[in-house]
Amino acid sequence: MANSLQGKSIVSITDISKDEIEEVLNLARIWKQDLPGKILDGRIMASLFFEASTRTRFSFETAMLRLGGQVVHSENARVFTSTEKGETIEDTARVLDKLVDVIVMRSHEEGYARRAASVSSVPIINAGDGPGEHPTQTLIDLYTILEELEHLDNIRIAMVGDLLYGRTVRSLCQALALYDGIEIYFVSPRELQMREDIKVFLNDHAIVFSEHYRMEDVLDKVDVLYMTRIQKERFATREDYERYKGVYIFNEESLAKIRDNSIIMHPLPRVGEIDPIVDKDPRAVYFKQVQNGLFIRMAILSLVLE
Ligand code: NCD
Repeated sequence: MANSLQGKSIVSITDISKDEIEEVLNLARIWKQDLPGKILDGRIMASLFFEASTRTRFSFETAMLRLGGQVVHSENARVFTSTEKGETIEDTARVLDKLVDVIVMRSHEEGYARRAASVSSVPIINAGDGPGEHPTQTLIDLYTILEELEHLDNIRIAMVGDLLYGRTVRSLCQALALYDGIEIYFVSPRELQMREDIKVFLNDHAIVFSEHYRMEDVLDKVDVLYMTRIQKERFATREDYERYKGVYIFNEESLAKIRDNSIIMHPLPRVGEIDPIVDKDPRAVYFKQVQNGLFIRMAILSLVLE
């Protein structure tokens, strides 16, 4: 039976419906128990990465390989593809779609994945477009919340750090708007607050949110503490970045303040905002997110390709 994600690009989390999100989460759950066979034998994925990546690229590539598919890739695609010669992303997509069955791409510029998807004859999966969106990370985040807390409705979540440039929180907000009883606490320096477009989106969906500066003010209020990195590569100067570096650090003291049944998440990489001493606490689930990423990406690839 054809599934509705077949042949579809995923550029924004809003490109897929709540039912489709649940289909991805379900399949990932089944495969986490019991790996499927080589169902993507003979299919080829291109991974086109214009920006640095560890988890996303390796988990997409291993997901494809574990499903029996194959991978061609360009890391540092700004230098190693014809982008360096001035080729447009549209032309690059038109070339790759003649060669492969799916393109996973990460770009430094917001909107690149959308431009590629507008011309590509094969699905484009956005693996992060500058400060835009990161929909597959959101599927991992939803999966992890559901697995750890057993529900997605009635979640109180604090998103802490660089909300201006962080793309994972932007996608996550839009996905959470599909659920009931969501309450979001944004915690950031004033200059790194969540952009207006997402706040308008949340208002339109009647999602309750508030803005804070001090992390300590929200620690005992939430079910999910979602930490993020200050996005060094998005600042104009090193001094600008240095101003915010280290502004939020979740440590042993913070642990004592959160609820017993809450969880601490982070899309990773962390660069000092969570003290490693926190790792052994059962509420720290950021490395579980990484593991869930493999199954979520297997589910995504099989659903868009089958
Ligand atoms: C995130 C990203 O690339 O946006 N990383 C990831 O994919 N897990 C978060 C970040 O880089 O801060």
